[in-house]
Amino acid sequence: MRRLAVIVLAAGQGKRMKSSTPKMLHSICGKPILSYVLSSVAQLRPDRLLVVVGHGSEEVIAAIDHKVELAIQEEQLGTGHAVATAVRRLAGYAGDVLVVCGDTPLLEAATLSNLVQAHRGAGAQATVTTSHVEAPEGYGRIVRDAEQGMESIVEERDATSTQKLIAEINTGVYCFESRALGEALSLLDDANSQKELYLTDTIHIIRSRGGKVSSFAANQEETQGINSLSDLARVEQVVLKRLRQGLMEEGVRFVMPETTYIEAGVKIANDTVIEPNCYLAGSTTIGSGCHVGPGAALYDCRLGERVRVSMTVGHEVEIADDVEVGPFCSLRPGTVLRAGSKAGTFVELKKTDVGEGSKVPHLSYIGDADIGKDANIGAGTITCNYDGIKKSQTIVEDGAFIGSDTMLIAPVRVGKGAVTGAGSAISKDVPAGSLGLERADQKNIAGWAARHFNKKDKKSERK
Ligand code: UD1
Ligand code: CA
Repeated sequence: MRRLAVIVLAAGQGKRMKSSTPKMLHSICGKPILSYVLSSVAQLRPDRLLVVVGHGSEEVIAAIDHKVELAIQEEQLGTGHAVATAVRRLAGYAGDVLVVCGDTPLLEAATLSNLVQAHRGAGAQATVTTSHVEAPEGYGRIVRDAEQGMESIVEERDATSTQKLIAEINTGVYCFESRALGEALSLLDDANSQKELYLTDTIHIIRSRGGKVSSFAANQEETQGINSLSDLARVEQVVLKRLRQGLMEEGVRFVMPETTYIEAGVKIANDTVIEPNCYLAGSTTIGSGCHVGPGAALYDCRLGERVRVSMTVGHEVEIADDVEVGPFCSLRPGTVLRAGSKAGTFVELKKTDVGEGSKVPHLSYIGDADIGKDANIGAGTITCNYDGIKKSQTIVEDGAFIGSDTMLIAPVRVGKGAVTGAGSAISKDVPAGSLGLERADQKNIAGWAARHFNKKDKKSERK
């Protein structure tokens, strides 16, 4: 079996991104650009896998999630120089060398494998993956001879106005025979507008030395490169489409799929419906039979089965089976909603454990609280968990009934089956089964209303 080495180019700064973040680390659906190419090339099970890093190398290396060999390109003198840096580490290697740019994340493993097969089948010393595109701007153009053979690749900046009309572009993915590549690299010069060593020039060099150069056609969508933030947005749309498509094939229903943003780490079980305008991020997992959205933003949340969530933002929250959340709920880290519980309209929960069957239906802030089973937290209940210095805990035991507009001044405990009177500021523990009531007795003053309105100036009568 012929050997295969893969070189991934990831040392460039990505000037056209206009960003201080190295290009390879910009995120597509929650994963760095570079990780996409790495997972495609890893599927080929190459004998060697080298990544050329340089600009921001420390950060880039930290983000590499595959087993690779690193080649450090201290100065970024061009793609040819980058490949030469890696080839130096391949001393003694003989076989094929697949070169891929780290900034083309949509490439699929099958396409790369077909390229290698085509290269081997043609007995070529170099095979360039090309694509016919509607907008070739920014790419190197494929220059062909009278017999339609590959002649050279000319960069946009070095192209004549006629060459700029060529719609066949260099996708930046190549397969080389290792010896021909090594020789061509040693002959590169920087006689071009950027004064760089261009990998693309190896094609012309190999051909002029009598080597066979062939091309391999790939589709336009898959070979899009990322040079700018608008390219990034365009590529991310394709990744999103693939992610949603994959989930649909597993039985997830998306209503208006194009309105849902979903990250690569999100898992959703079948028979779940995702309504329009959802943002599903991080390690979020959603069980079967759920109804999410419209308008849910969930980051690193875990949802059980048959959960309903609408118009809600959740961060690091655990939601068990048959829970109802929203609309207009803010669920903050450390919150657990146990089976059959509810967090309703305009409710904020932080580090709160809501027990099985318990309900926080309306207008509440509950923080640092432990709520038992089947408790009811009346509308407008607030935990006063912070005295300006420290956070304190509120405990509501099983079956307690918290009256509307109760202030639970923590630390405080409401015992099993206890009740608090509406409007009470509860600062002392309420024993199990008791009523905790803290409010002034109401006075009714007879005839007050008539006296009040008679005093009024006739001109400003109530309308
Ligand atoms: C390159 C090709 C162009 C092709 C396009 C496809 C060259 C000269 N041009 O252009 O023909 O159409 O890709 O997307 O090769 N890199 C390094 N070290 C360097 C320079 C670049 O590692 O010194 C890496 C970058 O991180 C990037 C890749 O090489 O992953 C391509 O570099 P980039 O500057 O984006 O090249 P393009 O201008 O897109
Ligand atoms: Ca590029």
